Amino acid sequence: MAETRLRGRRLALLAAMSAAILGVSTVVVVAADHLTAPGHDGAARVAAEKPVPPVDSDVLSDEQAKARDRARRQAENARIRGLLAPDVSLEDFVPDEPVVAVTSNGRDIDCTQLKCVAITFDDGPGSQTDQLLAMLRAADALATWFPLGEVVSDSPERLRAIAEAGHEIGNHSWSHPQLTATSNGQIETQISRTADLIDKLLGTRPTLVRPPYGAINKRVAAELRQLNAPAILWDVDPLDWKYRNSDRVYRSVMSQVRPGSIVLLHDIHPTTVAAMPRILRALANRGYTFVTVSELFGNRLVPGQIYLDRAEGYRRD
Ligand code: NI
Repeated sequence: MAETRLRGRRLALLAAMSAAILGVSTVVVVAADHLTAPGHDGAARVAAEKPVPPVDSDVLSDEQAKARDRARRQAENARIRGLLAPDVSLEDFVPDEPVVAVTSNGRDIDCTQLKCVAITFDDGPGSQTDQLLAMLRAADALATWFPLGEVVSDSPERLRAIAEAGHEIGNHSWSHPQLTATSNGQIETQISRTADLIDKLLGTRPTLVRPPYGAINKRVAAELRQLNAPAILWDVDPLDWKYRNSDRVYRSVMSQVRPGSIVLLHDIHPTTVAAMPRILRALANRGYTFVTVSELFGNRLVPGQIYLDRAEGYRRD
């Protein structure tokens, strides 16, 4: 029963998220837009899956899911502001799933108090890793990479350099398949094979997973939960894989970003790397702190849960 209810909640949450993003209520694929890895040129948008009807009466409606999420937000905001009475329990708002143990990098950063932004790089690491690392170092910025296993196996030294510079390493699968069209066994292979390789290279096993194309549904989320992996999507997407124009990438990022954002970029494109000094300077001028994805969420993430941003946890005075 409890398991059924959990699954039902997750379905409703996914549906609500999809609805918020796509403006419809039945689509379960969240987003679909970056098709950038070597050998992955082609159609740039993944077809949405067919509507999934509620499986039983325990499934929350979109309205119920929204109400619950609103309650959680309000409780969190109240707690942040010190307004929540001591005798009021937050238990109802704490995720009932286990919290994944994300290893802290040792920095003490509170993204409920600071204007944080998590910059992320998918599909690489690219050939300009050294230049990019120098740019980030100059801006006192940490970022997060979601590498492909097959790219890492070809150029492991790039990932080592990134990790040694203190950046966070996630997992973007081995060869970039659309996980919603992939069997559970293949999902496990795609994620575990990459994690094994990274663990062997760095001595640290990545937990954060970014599903290729952002394609995720109830089944994939459940499989990621089994693999102890939170699903990290994004809220800022300049479509840098499509528009190979540094100025456009810069303007697009700056027009979308807000406190708590996760920015999706691809360092395999020279136009994106070339845009980075300007992006970093402009964000710093707006008062942003550059954090890893785990730092953005205080090193507390739930396996199988989808993360788009941390906007609601930030205190706006
Ligand atoms: Ni990708």
